[in-house]
Amino acid sequence: EPETISDLLDRLCEIVPDYPSAGISFKDLTPAFADAAGLRRMVDEIVAPFSGQFDVIAGLEARGFVLAAAAAYATGTGMVTVRKAGKLPREVHRDEYTLEYGTGTLELHRDDVAPGTRVLILDDVLATGGTVGSAARLLKMVGAQVIGVGVVLELQGLGGREKLSGLHVHSLQLV
Ligand code: PRP
Repeated sequence: EPETISDLLDRLCEIVPDYPSAGISFKDLTPAFADAAGLRRMVDEIVAPFSGQFDVIAGLEARGFVLAAAAAYATGTGMVTVRKAGKLPREVHRDEYTLEYGTGTLELHRDDVAPGTRVLILDDVLATGGTVGSAARLLKMVGAQVIGVGVVLELQGLGGREKLSGLHVHSLQLV
């Protein structure tokens, strides 16, 4: 029998205790990205529910870039980068979001996405939803239509899905 995506992720996601700080158990997907079948399955399954519904994929720095670029290539769409503050060289929209401790800032070039463009947001992990929520606001600022959100891992109990109510959120694995 073919391996389910859930079994594949159990096999290829490394849990790192006490990283980046004591008490946090970090979900490291780098072995899944490094595995040929792993990368292909993640990309194919993350875009599947949104087939034909988007023109561009937005990748969130940094691990979202890997998925978004591969998925854009696989689906024949474009890819845009939503970046941490200070990385994009031209005129940007800026959005501040809440982190567990403090705030973060994301930016999007004002002209990388045309108004009316249908955008799929991809990232590796959904935790509190702060990052995806911020990206969705930035895309709204340029007049784009966020048709959905795809993540590999959805951490339960942190309120991410609730925070993103109104968005179609597809995760490959609940952890
Ligand atoms: C991690 C992860 C998501 C985000 C999820 O990124 O890759 O982007 O946190 O958390 P949230 O749902 O609570 O916002 P991180 O900020 O560590 O950035 P990096 O990928 O550049 O290391």
